[in-house]
Amino acid sequence: EGDVFKYYSEGEWKKSASGKSVAIINPTTRKTQYKVQACTQEEVNKVMEVAKAAQKSWAKTPLWKRAELLHKAAAILKEHKAPIAECLVKEIAKPAKDAVTEVVRSGDLVSYTAEEGVRILGEGKFLVSDSFPGNERTKYCLTSKIPLGVILAIPPFNYPVNLAVSKIAPALIAGNSLVLKPPTQGAVACLHMVHCFHLAGFPKGLISCVTGKGSEIGDFLTMHPGVHCISFTGGDTGVAISKKAGMIPLQMELGGKDACIVLEDADLDLAAGSIVKGGFSYSGQRCTAVKVVLVMESVADTLVEKVNAKVAKLTVGPPEDDCDITPVVSESSANFIEGLVMDAKQKNATFCQQYKREGNLIWPLLLDNVRPDMRIAWEEPFGPVLPVIRINSVEEGIHHCNASNFGLQGCVFTKDINKAILISDAMETGTVQINSAPARGPDHFPFQGIKDSGIGSQGITNSINMMTKVKTTVINLP
Ligand code: G3H
Repeated sequence: EGDVFKYYSEGEWKKSASGKSVAIINPTTRKTQYKVQACTQEEVNKVMEVAKAAQKSWAKTPLWKRAELLHKAAAILKEHKAPIAECLVKEIAKPAKDAVTEVVRSGDLVSYTAEEGVRILGEGKFLVSDSFPGNERTKYCLTSKIPLGVILAIPPFNYPVNLAVSKIAPALIAGNSLVLKPPTQGAVACLHMVHCFHLAGFPKGLISCVTGKGSEIGDFLTMHPGVHCISFTGGDTGVAISKKAGMIPLQMELGGKDACIVLEDADLDLAAGSIVKGGFSYSGQRCTAVKVVLVMESVADTLVEKVNAKVAKLTVGPPEDDCDITPVVSESSANFIEGLVMDAKQKNATFCQQYKREGNLIWPLLLDNVRPDMRIAWEEPFGPVLPVIRINSVEEGIHHCNASNFGLQGCVFTKDINKAILISDAMETGTVQINSAPARGPDHFPFQGIKDSGIGSQGITNSINMMTKVKTTVINLP
């Protein structure tokens, strides 16, 4: 029957009483690679109960000690980068080198968060009353940041480790406890990562990891009265969660349709390089991927030629061989991408390469002369397919960007910094990159989307602040 990876509760690795498991399909072989426990609602209840108790004493653990444990976990995580990366290769078909980079970046993120936490949580404020009309200087107000309680972290398949620790580390440094619900694809990488925290010696029950079917424990977790904050990264599910969740802070990072605007005076080699990296790295399965190119007609032929020359050099194949383009995460994802391609074909987009697919592996494809009536002009393929829309004015580009339901990031290529800043101001997105592809990192930069791209702001500092609330004590003088 094969081994089923255990889930993590009360500081121990356990089998679920359900006796059931969830299969993780390797995107490359399309066969079952691993199995994880299908946890029950009772098991979720138990995890919530212990998380509540563990948090109380964790909040009283000195900040420097909390930081010390996080530094330890970061070091252990980096030491174990190879086996964790191996899971990422098998579960989500991440190219081998990128898989290692994800784990190393995660270790760095945990350490940085520990350092940032001791700085910003080590400071409070002191206010006096006589600045507000009608008051004498008779009240001294002391503020500090206190934890929220139990944080529920739900990372996505594309960065199961990195986008888990980007929630775990801020939660813990701030004195919260943490319940992790990994994505199915990437669950085993997550369990290995949690084991690194286990080895670091965090108190029992402070961190838990429950695996299982969304249909069984998804809503149960997100609507659980024991949860005081949800940090979610993923797709449309986030919209549903935010509608159902209670009166708790939500950090949501959802989809994107990041536009790349290329002006007439742009360095076209730089733009082409960024478009290929931004559009095709991890086969386009990044929320920050370039998802539509908006190029001025006068330079469009040259740009498309340069992009095509680079696309031709992308290697296509299994993640074990560290190919640039690897199978997309699931068959349903490949089918969805194919649907967008077929719609564009029917509506006469120009295919710069032949469309080719084997199983979940889709060859990189640039679609030129895409028009607004095509689905791919608006929808997020989350695959190696990139549409190019030719524009006749900057305004047309900004208009297309702002007409999207999404507003995560965008980028603009021009040598004129004044124009770039005006365009950045006009683009309704959380971030605009000037002369580079969209990206979340460095991980201490603020990261946020507007509209359907999410709520709240991430990045190390913002996440720590978001997972705390302000407590004040007022000293009333006679
Ligand atoms: O998929 C969403 C991630 O937050 C994007 O992160 O820009 O580092 O690839 P990245």
